[in-house]
Amino acid sequence: MAAILSISGSPSAISRTARLLRHLDARLTAQGHEVIPLDVRTLPAEALLGADFKHPAIVEATELVARADGVVVGTPVYKAAYSGLLKSLLDLLPQYALEGKTVLPLATGGTTAHVLAIDYALRPVLNSMGAGHIVQGWFTLDKDITVGDDGTLTVAPGSAEALEQVVDRFSAALGGRTSRTSLLAATA
Ligand SMILES: Cc1cc2nc3c(=O)[nH]c(=O)nc-3n(C[C@H](O)[C@H](O)[C@H](O)COP(=O)(O)O)c2cc1C
Repeated sequence: MAAILSISGSPSAISRTARLLRHLDARLTAQGHEVIPLDVRTLPAEALLGADFKHPAIVEATELVARADGVVVGTPVYKAAYSGLLKSLLDLLPQYALEGKTVLPLATGGTTAHVLAIDYALRPVLNSMGAGHIVQGWFTLDKDITVGDDGTLTVAPGSAEALEQVVDRFSAALGGRTSRTSLLAATA
């Protein structure tokens, strides 16, 4: 089906955003897509901070974006917007890197006061990069995502169903199969 790049923009080594995205990747894979995960924190800091467009890791990330039909962009909310780490990668991509692509924006955050950060902060950036179709995104409260000692990821009811919906709409926009698996609890 479609090739999907799933980008986590959290700098945290124990990131809830990244765990959530990897969990959603499995759902997209089950729907017939090829999903490639990309954690921006694994890219070399000197390339991101030094605007080294020619660094092999940045060139590779740029090619991954270019090859993708769909892109999941996940970020923690930092200071009422997306993370600086995510922006440091987006800034190194070509201006219209998202042209013709379907994009699913996702965020995690600590307060519902910033539930609209996707729409007022992230969406305009994705739009400026030429995204063909930015589907409805979703903000998940950090307290609604728990990771057990055994690696089990649990998303609170309400958030889980909403995530299923936005992921399935994104998948459908990319021609994916429907899946009835629940996101409420599963091993990440
Ligand atoms: C530096 C910093 C700034 C934050 N600023 C906000 C904020 O403005 N609004 C909010 O809702 N949450 C804020 N948070 C909470 C995080 O968005 C939230 O815990 C998120 O789920 C962390 O995701 P991660 O585990 O993937 O890094 C902040 C956290 C940090 C560390």
